[in-house]
Amino acid sequence: MLITGAARGLGLATARAFLALGAGVAVNDRDPGPAESAVAGLKSEGRVAAAPADVATVTGCRQAVAQTIRAFGRLDILVNNAAINIEKPIADWDEDLWDRHLDVVLKGAFFATQAALPYLRANRGAVVNVASELGLRGVRDNVGYCAAKGGIVNLTRALALELAPDVRVNSVCPGPIDTPLMRECAIASGDPDAYYRQYAAYNVLGRVADPSEIAKAILFLASPRAAMITGVAFAIDGGSTAGQETGVGGGSR
Ligand SMILES: NC(=O)c1ccc[n+]([C@@H]2O[C@H](COP(=O)([O-])OP(=O)(O)OC[C@H]3O[C@@H](n4cnc5c(N)ncnc54)[C@H](O)[C@@H]3O)[C@@H](O)[C@H]2O)c1
Repeated sequence: MLITGAARGLGLATARAFLALGAGVAVNDRDPGPAESAVAGLKSEGRVAAAPADVATVTGCRQAVAQTIRAFGRLDILVNNAAINIEKPIADWDEDLWDRHLDVVLKGAFFATQAALPYLRANRGAVVNVASELGLRGVRDNVGYCAAKGGIVNLTRALALELAPDVRVNSVCPGPIDTPLMRECAIASGDPDAYYRQYAAYNVLGRVADPSEIAKAILFLASPRAAMITGVAFAIDGGSTAGQETGVGGGSR
């Protein structure tokens, strides 16, 4: 299997979850250094190989798949996880920032799937795209990320229809996860403690997820247990996309 953006955070936790079940895991990340040091840290947990490449480019997507095939001879599960998330108000977005968000998240997931398709079809495999709760609803000051993640949710649906019945394609839509990305956003906000408190408070379960909790859902969707599931956007967000907690005026009716 191949996980993009797996040198740290959710991708790394997902690699661990699959290794624990005996899968051969190709760890992609943009640069060789982080991919190789993640692999060195995972070596004792199972069959793992580095597949560094920039999945924001079509060439990079093909390289990541080719390295997976070189290492394991097959590819049955693809997890499109790589992303960037830079929060800025609309006036501060330029073309480069917009392209970087859309290219890593949306273009990357599409062309990695295209490159992996012959192998996925041969194994009747599965794709899991890591979207976000911000693919299901919007938020201020993060328009490019929201657009890219909304795109992934519908890319998933369209691919699920086109690739059925050979390959299942699903997305997960996590709420806040305690990863290096979230820690970086917290620091950039200027008040990391308030940032964490705010994110923990805005779902009804009142906390940020651990990466291993999202990894379990990815594992389920990729597994034969989910054999009848394709095209879904699976929210793992503590209820934040279920609706608003209070009615008009702040009380329940
Ligand atoms: N952390 C959260 O709160 C949260 C919430 C919802 C969804 N997500 C999604 O979960 C996924 C993982 O996020 P995370 O929090 O672990 O982030 P992270 O930044 O900790 O890890 C992302 C990894 O992707 C890699 N990457 C970025 N651009 C790449 C490229 N062009 N090619 C290859 N690799 C690239 C990064 O180097 C990094 O190692 C992302 O899709 C993110 O949008 C995260």
